[in-house]
Amino acid sequence: MRFLETNLGDPELCPGTKEIESRYIAFISQLLHAPKTSAGQIVSGGTEGNITAMWIAKQLSGKKEILLPTSAHFSFQKIASLMDMKLVEVPVTKEYVMDVSQLKKKIRKTTAAVVGLAGSTELGTIDPIPELSEICSDEHIFLHVDAAFGGFVIPFLKKLHYKVPDFDFLLKGVCSISIDSHKMGYAAIPLGTLMIRKKQWLGSISVDSPYISSEKQAGMLGTRSGAPVAAAYAVSQYLGFEGYKQMVQSCMDITQYAERRIGKLGLSLVLKPTMNVIGVKLKKPSLMVKKLSEQGWRVNKVERLSCIRLVLMPQITKQIIDEFIPVLQKTCEEVGEL
Ligand SMILES: Cc1ncc(COP(=O)(O)O)c(C=O)c1O
Repeated sequence: MRFLETNLGDPELCPGTKEIESRYIAFISQLLHAPKTSAGQIVSGGTEGNITAMWIAKQLSGKKEILLPTSAHFSFQKIASLMDMKLVEVPVTKEYVMDVSQLKKKIRKTTAAVVGLAGSTELGTIDPIPELSEICSDEHIFLHVDAAFGGFVIPFLKKLHYKVPDFDFLLKGVCSISIDSHKMGYAAIPLGTLMIRKKQWLGSISVDSPYISSEKQAGMLGTRSGAPVAAAYAVSQYLGFEGYKQMVQSCMDITQYAERRIGKLGLSLVLKPTMNVIGVKLKKPSLMVKKLSEQGWRVNKVERLSCIRLVLMPQITKQIIDEFIPVLQKTCEEVGEL
Protein backbone atom coordinates (compact mmCIF):
# COMPACT_ATOMS: atom_id res chain seq x y z
CA MET A 1 0.00 0.00 0.00
CA ARG A 2 2.78 2.42 0.91
CA PHE A 3 4.37 1.99 -2.52
CA LEU A 4 1.18 2.43 -4.60
CA GLU A 5 1.81 6.11 -5.29
CA THR A 6 5.52 5.79 -6.00
CA ASN A 7 6.83 6.00 -9.56
CA LEU A 8 9.40 3.56 -10.91
CA GLY A 9 9.61 5.75 -13.98
CA ASP A 10 11.10 8.64 -11.96
CA PRO A 11 13.81 6.95 -9.90
CA GLU A 12 15.57 10.04 -8.52
CA LEU A 13 12.26 11.36 -7.20
CA CYS A 14 11.49 8.03 -5.51
CA PRO A 15 14.88 6.81 -4.25
CA GLY A 16 13.38 4.23 -1.88
CA THR A 17 11.52 2.57 -4.72
CA LYS A 18 14.67 2.64 -6.81
CA GLU A 19 16.53 0.93 -3.96
CA ILE A 20 13.87 -1.81 -3.67
CA GLU A 21 14.00 -2.25 -7.45
CA SER A 22 17.77 -2.72 -7.45
CA ARG A 23 17.58 -5.17 -4.56
CA TYR A 24 14.93 -7.18 -6.40
CA ILE A 25 16.98 -7.18 -9.59
CA ALA A 26 19.98 -8.42 -7.54
CA PHE A 27 17.81 -11.31 -6.30
CA ILE A 28 16.79 -12.23 -9.87
CA SER A 29 20.42 -11.87 -11.04
CA GLN A 30 21.53 -14.36 -8.44
CA LEU A 31 18.76 -16.77 -9.40
CA LEU A 32 19.75 -16.63 -13.09
CA HIS A 33 23.56 -16.48 -12.61
CA ALA A 34 23.66 -13.13 -14.35
CA PRO A 35 27.20 -11.74 -14.80
CA LYS A 36 28.44 -8.45 -13.30
CA THR A 37 28.04 -6.81 -16.71
CA SER A 38 24.29 -7.49 -16.70
CA ALA A 39 21.28 -5.27 -16.07
CA GLY A 40 17.67 -5.91 -15.18
CA GLN A 41 14.65 -4.08 -16.44
CA ILE A 42 11.42 -4.35 -14.46
CA VAL A 43 8.52 -5.07 -16.82
CA SER A 44 4.81 -5.73 -16.46
CA GLY A 45 5.13 -9.40 -17.42
CA GLY A 46 6.12 -11.87 -20.10
CA THR A 47 4.67 -9.91 -23.00
CA GLU A 48 6.57 -6.74 -22.20
CA GLY A 49 9.69 -8.80 -21.40
CA ASN A 50 9.58 -10.41 -24.85
CA ILE A 51 8.80 -7.12 -26.61
CA THR A 52 11.70 -5.38 -24.88
CA ALA A 53 14.13 -8.22 -25.65
CA MET A 54 13.20 -8.21 -29.34
CA TRP A 55 13.43 -4.43 -29.42
CA ILE A 56 17.02 -4.67 -28.15
CA ALA A 57 17.84 -7.47 -30.63
CA LYS A 58 16.46 -5.41 -33.50
CA GLN A 59 18.37 -2.28 -32.43
CA LEU A 60 21.67 -4.13 -31.92
CA SER A 61 21.55 -6.18 -35.11
CA GLY A 62 19.69 -3.82 -37.43
CA LYS A 63 17.83 -6.93 -38.62
CA LYS A 64 14.23 -8.03 -38.40
CA GLU A 65 13.87 -11.82 -38.49
CA ILE A 66 13.06 -13.79 -35.35
CA LEU A 67 13.55 -17.56 -35.31
CA LEU A 68 11.25 -19.12 -32.75
CA PRO A 69 9.66 -22.50 -32.07
CA THR A 70 6.06 -23.14 -33.12
CA SER A 71 5.34 -23.48 -29.38
CA ALA A 72 6.25 -19.81 -28.68
CA HIS A 73 3.81 -17.55 -26.83
CA PHE A 74 1.42 -15.38 -28.87
CA SER A 75 3.13 -12.21 -27.59
CA PHE A 76 5.56 -12.66 -30.51
CA GLN A 77 2.67 -12.00 -32.91
CA LYS A 78 2.32 -8.59 -31.27
CA ILE A 79 6.06 -8.04 -31.62
CA ALA A 80 5.94 -8.77 -35.34
CA SER A 81 3.09 -6.33 -35.80
CA LEU A 82 4.41 -3.58 -33.52
CA MET A 83 8.01 -3.58 -34.70
CA ASP A 84 7.57 -4.73 -38.28
CA MET A 85 9.56 -7.90 -37.55
CA LYS A 86 9.17 -11.24 -39.29
CA LEU A 87 8.54 -14.46 -37.40
CA VAL A 88 10.19 -17.56 -38.84
CA GLU A 89 8.82 -20.64 -37.14
CA VAL A 90 11.05 -23.58 -36.33
CA PRO A 91 9.25 -26.93 -36.01
CA VAL A 92 9.28 -28.82 -32.72
CA THR A 93 10.26 -32.45 -32.17
CA LYS A 94 7.86 -35.08 -30.85
CA GLU A 95 9.04 -34.06 -27.37
CA TYR A 96 7.57 -30.62 -28.18
CA VAL A 97 10.91 -28.78 -28.05
CA MET A 98 12.64 -26.81 -30.80
CA ASP A 99 14.20 -29.01 -33.46
CA VAL A 100 17.82 -27.83 -33.50
CA SER A 101 18.62 -29.30 -36.92
CA GLN A 102 15.72 -27.31 -38.38
CA LEU A 103 16.94 -24.17 -36.62
CA LYS A 104 20.37 -24.50 -38.22
CA LYS A 105 18.76 -24.63 -41.66
CA LYS A 106 16.77 -21.46 -41.05
CA ILE A 107 19.55 -19.17 -39.81
CA ARG A 108 20.29 -16.47 -42.38
CA LYS A 109 22.10 -13.16 -42.69
CA THR A 110 18.81 -11.45 -41.88
CA THR A 111 18.32 -13.22 -38.51
CA ALA A 112 18.00 -10.72 -35.66
CA ALA A 113 17.33 -13.17 -32.83
CA VAL A 114 16.62 -16.73 -31.82
CA VAL A 115 14.05 -17.38 -29.10
CA GLY A 116 14.14 -20.45 -26.86
CA LEU A 117 11.48 -21.40 -24.32
CA ALA A 118 12.28 -22.39 -20.78
CA GLY A 119 8.81 -23.55 -19.86
CA SER A 120 6.43 -23.49 -22.82
CA THR A 121 2.99 -22.05 -22.20
CA GLU A 122 1.14 -25.14 -23.32
CA LEU A 123 3.15 -28.01 -21.81
CA GLY A 124 5.96 -26.52 -19.73
CA THR A 125 8.64 -28.03 -21.99
CA ILE A 126 12.17 -26.62 -22.16
CA ASP A 127 13.92 -26.07 -25.50
CA PRO A 128 17.53 -27.34 -25.79
CA ILE A 129 18.95 -24.00 -24.63
CA PRO A 130 22.58 -25.29 -24.29
CA GLU A 131 22.59 -26.19 -28.00
CA LEU A 132 20.88 -22.93 -28.95
CA SER A 133 23.52 -21.10 -26.93
CA GLU A 134 26.37 -22.80 -28.82
CA ILE A 135 24.82 -22.09 -32.21
CA CYS A 136 23.97 -18.47 -31.43
CA SER A 137 27.33 -17.73 -29.93
CA ASP A 138 29.10 -19.21 -33.01
CA GLU A 139 26.84 -17.28 -35.36
CA HIS A 140 26.84 -14.07 -33.25
CA ILE A 141 23.06 -14.06 -33.00
CA PHE A 142 21.09 -12.64 -30.07
CA LEU A 143 19.56 -15.49 -28.05
CA HIS A 144 16.54 -14.63 -25.91
CA VAL A 145 15.18 -17.15 -23.42
CA ASP A 146 11.49 -16.83 -22.60
CA ALA A 147 11.43 -18.16 -19.06
CA ALA A 148 8.24 -16.32 -18.12
CA PHE A 149 6.83 -19.47 -16.56
CA GLY A 150 9.90 -21.68 -16.01
CA GLY A 151 12.28 -19.07 -14.62
CA PHE A 152 11.06 -19.62 -11.07
CA VAL A 153 10.79 -23.40 -11.54
CA ILE A 154 13.87 -24.73 -13.38
CA PRO A 155 16.53 -23.44 -10.94
CA PHE A 156 14.73 -25.26 -8.13
CA LEU A 157 14.09 -28.43 -10.17
CA LYS A 158 17.86 -28.53 -10.60
CA LYS A 159 18.40 -28.19 -6.84
CA LEU A 160 15.87 -31.01 -6.38
CA HIS A 161 17.92 -33.19 -8.81
CA TYR A 162 15.39 -33.28 -11.64
CA LYS A 163 17.02 -33.72 -15.03
CA VAL A 164 16.49 -30.38 -16.78
CA PRO A 165 18.77 -28.53 -19.20
CA ASP A 166 20.71 -25.40 -18.31
CA PHE A 167 18.87 -22.31 -19.46
CA ASP A 168 20.42 -19.26 -17.84
CA PHE A 169 23.44 -16.94 -18.10
CA LEU A 170 25.86 -19.77 -17.27
CA LEU A 171 25.47 -20.48 -20.99
CA LYS A 172 27.62 -17.96 -22.81
CA GLY A 173 25.25 -17.53 -25.77
CA VAL A 174 22.25 -16.49 -23.67
CA CYS A 175 21.80 -12.73 -24.17
CA SER A 176 18.54 -12.09 -22.34
CA ILE A 177 16.03 -13.88 -20.13
CA SER A 178 12.49 -12.88 -19.38
CA ILE A 179 11.15 -14.19 -16.05
CA ASP A 180 7.76 -13.51 -14.49
CA SER A 181 7.34 -12.99 -10.79
CA HIS A 182 3.56 -12.93 -11.18
CA LYS A 183 3.58 -16.53 -12.44
CA MET A 184 5.64 -19.01 -10.41
CA GLY A 185 7.35 -16.21 -8.46
CA TYR A 186 4.13 -16.09 -6.45
CA ALA A 187 4.07 -12.28 -6.53
CA ALA A 188 1.27 -9.82 -7.30
CA ILE A 189 0.37 -8.81 -10.87
CA PRO A 190 1.94 -7.03 -12.79
CA LEU A 191 5.57 -8.02 -12.44
CA GLY A 192 8.30 -9.54 -14.55
CA THR A 193 11.97 -8.86 -15.13
CA LEU A 194 13.98 -8.80 -18.32
CA MET A 195 17.61 -9.57 -17.54
CA ILE A 196 20.15 -8.68 -20.22
CA ARG A 197 23.77 -9.83 -20.35
CA LYS A 198 25.24 -6.36 -20.98
CA LYS A 199 24.06 -3.20 -19.27
CA GLN A 200 25.11 -1.02 -22.21
CA TRP A 201 22.46 -2.66 -24.39
CA LEU A 202 19.90 -0.58 -22.49
CA GLY A 203 21.32 2.37 -24.41
CA SER A 204 19.77 0.93 -27.56
CA ILE A 205 16.28 1.29 -26.07
CA SER A 206 16.79 4.58 -24.19
CA VAL A 207 15.56 8.02 -25.02
CA ASP A 208 16.23 11.43 -23.50
CA SER A 209 13.72 12.14 -20.73
CA PRO A 210 14.19 15.87 -20.18
CA TYR A 211 11.39 16.70 -17.74
CA ILE A 212 11.97 13.90 -15.18
CA SER A 213 14.81 13.48 -12.73
CA SER A 214 16.85 11.00 -14.78
CA GLU A 215 18.41 12.06 -18.06
CA LYS A 216 17.45 8.96 -19.99
CA GLN A 217 14.66 6.43 -19.77
CA ALA A 218 15.02 2.87 -21.04
CA GLY A 219 12.18 0.56 -22.04
CA MET A 220 8.59 0.89 -23.12
CA LEU A 221 6.74 2.37 -20.19
CA GLY A 222 7.04 5.68 -18.39
CA THR A 223 5.14 6.22 -15.16
CA ARG A 224 4.44 2.96 -13.35
CA SER A 225 3.78 2.11 -9.75
CA GLY A 226 6.53 0.83 -7.46
CA ALA A 227 3.99 -1.31 -5.56
CA PRO A 228 4.38 -4.54 -7.59
CA VAL A 229 8.17 -4.43 -7.12
CA ALA A 230 7.82 -3.83 -3.40
CA ALA A 231 5.34 -6.73 -3.21
CA ALA A 232 7.57 -9.09 -5.20
CA TYR A 233 10.60 -8.08 -3.13
CA ALA A 234 8.65 -8.81 0.06
CA VAL A 235 7.71 -12.27 -1.26
CA SER A 236 11.31 -12.97 -2.27
CA GLN A 237 12.53 -12.07 1.22
CA TYR A 238 9.75 -14.02 2.92
CA LEU A 239 10.31 -17.20 0.90
CA GLY A 240 14.00 -16.99 0.01
CA PHE A 241 15.50 -19.58 -2.36
CA GLU A 242 14.73 -22.30 0.17
CA GLY A 243 11.03 -21.35 0.26
CA TYR A 244 10.82 -21.38 -3.53
CA LYS A 245 12.52 -24.77 -3.61
CA GLN A 246 9.93 -26.20 -1.21
CA MET A 247 7.12 -24.70 -3.25
CA VAL A 248 8.44 -26.25 -6.47
CA GLN A 249 8.84 -29.58 -4.68
CA SER A 250 5.24 -29.50 -3.54
CA CYS A 251 4.01 -28.46 -7.02
CA MET A 252 5.88 -31.44 -8.49
CA ASP A 253 4.45 -33.80 -5.86
CA ILE A 254 0.92 -32.64 -6.73
CA THR A 255 1.71 -32.89 -10.45
CA GLN A 256 2.82 -36.51 -10.05
CA TYR A 257 -0.25 -37.26 -7.94
CA ALA A 258 -2.57 -35.74 -10.57
CA GLU A 259 -0.70 -37.64 -13.29
CA ARG A 260 -1.29 -40.97 -11.50
CA ARG A 261 -4.98 -40.25 -10.87
CA ILE A 262 -5.56 -39.20 -14.51
CA GLY A 263 -3.72 -42.31 -15.73
CA LYS A 264 -5.94 -44.52 -13.56
CA LEU A 265 -9.03 -43.08 -15.27
CA GLY A 266 -7.67 -44.45 -18.55
CA LEU A 267 -6.75 -41.04 -20.02
CA SER A 268 -3.31 -40.37 -21.42
CA LEU A 269 -0.99 -37.37 -21.29
CA VAL A 270 0.48 -35.61 -24.30
CA LEU A 271 3.94 -35.92 -22.72
CA LYS A 272 5.50 -36.83 -19.40
CA PRO A 273 5.42 -33.44 -17.61
CA THR A 274 8.71 -31.53 -17.40
CA MET A 275 7.35 -29.22 -14.75
CA ASN A 276 4.00 -28.53 -13.09
CA VAL A 277 2.00 -28.41 -16.34
CA ILE A 278 0.01 -31.39 -17.59
CA GLY A 279 -1.55 -31.87 -21.04
CA VAL A 280 -4.39 -34.41 -20.99
CA LYS A 281 -5.13 -35.86 -24.43
CA LEU A 282 -8.78 -35.62 -25.41
CA LYS A 283 -10.80 -36.01 -28.59
CA LYS A 284 -12.98 -32.97 -27.92
CA PRO A 285 -11.01 -30.54 -25.75
CA SER A 286 -13.29 -27.53 -26.44
CA LEU A 287 -16.43 -29.37 -25.42
CA MET A 288 -14.68 -30.71 -22.31
CA VAL A 289 -13.51 -27.22 -21.30
CA LYS A 290 -17.05 -25.90 -21.75
CA LYS A 291 -18.59 -28.72 -19.69
CA LEU A 292 -15.96 -28.44 -16.95
CA SER A 293 -16.39 -24.70 -16.77
CA GLU A 294 -20.18 -25.11 -16.36
CA GLN A 295 -19.33 -27.12 -13.24
CA GLY A 296 -16.95 -24.43 -11.93
CA TRP A 297 -13.64 -25.99 -13.07
CA ARG A 298 -11.64 -23.72 -15.31
CA VAL A 299 -8.96 -25.40 -17.39
CA ASN A 300 -7.45 -24.32 -20.72
CA LYS A 301 -7.79 -26.07 -24.03
CA VAL A 302 -4.91 -26.51 -26.44
CA GLU A 303 -6.71 -27.21 -29.66
CA ARG A 304 -3.64 -27.86 -31.79
CA LEU A 305 -2.42 -30.56 -29.38
CA SER A 306 -5.95 -31.86 -28.82
CA CYS A 307 -5.60 -31.62 -25.07
CA ILE A 308 -6.60 -29.70 -21.99
CA ARG A 309 -3.90 -28.07 -19.92
CA LEU A 310 -3.72 -28.25 -16.15
CA VAL A 311 -1.30 -25.87 -14.44
CA LEU A 312 -0.55 -27.10 -10.92
CA MET A 313 0.16 -23.79 -9.23
CA PRO A 314 1.25 -23.73 -5.57
CA GLN A 315 -2.30 -23.18 -4.32
CA ILE A 316 -3.53 -26.47 -5.88
CA THR A 317 -3.70 -29.06 -3.13
CA LYS A 318 -4.19 -32.85 -3.14
CA GLN A 319 -7.70 -32.23 -1.86
CA ILE A 320 -8.51 -30.10 -4.92
CA ILE A 321 -7.23 -32.90 -7.20
CA ASP A 322 -9.39 -35.38 -5.26
CA GLU A 323 -12.42 -33.18 -5.92
CA PHE A 324 -11.51 -32.64 -9.59
CA ILE A 325 -10.88 -36.23 -10.68
CA PRO A 326 -14.46 -37.53 -10.22
CA VAL A 327 -15.79 -34.47 -12.10
CA LEU A 328 -13.29 -35.10 -14.90
CA GLN A 329 -14.28 -38.77 -15.03
CA LYS A 330 -18.03 -38.06 -15.11
CA THR A 331 -17.61 -35.37 -17.78
CA CYS A 332 -15.40 -37.64 -19.92
CA GLU A 333 -18.08 -40.35 -19.72
CA GLU A 334 -20.85 -37.92 -20.71
CA VAL A 335 -18.88 -36.59 -23.68
CA GLY A 336 -17.72 -40.03 -24.80
CA GLU A 337 -14.03 -39.58 -23.97
CA LEU A 338 -14.12 -42.65 -21.72
C1 LIG B 1 6.11 -18.61 -22.02
C2 LIG B 1 5.30 -17.35 -21.86
N1 LIG B 1 5.78 -16.19 -22.32
C3 LIG B 1 5.10 -15.04 -22.20
C4 LIG B 1 3.86 -15.01 -21.61
C5 LIG B 1 3.11 -13.71 -21.50
O1 LIG B 1 3.06 -13.31 -20.18
P1 LIG B 1 2.09 -12.11 -19.68
O2 LIG B 1 0.71 -12.58 -19.89
O3 LIG B 1 2.49 -11.94 -18.26
O4 LIG B 1 2.42 -10.90 -20.48
C6 LIG B 1 3.31 -16.20 -21.13
C7 LIG B 1 1.96 -16.21 -20.51
O5 LIG B 1 1.38 -17.20 -20.23
C8 LIG B 1 4.05 -17.41 -21.25
O6 LIG B 1 3.55 -18.59 -20.82
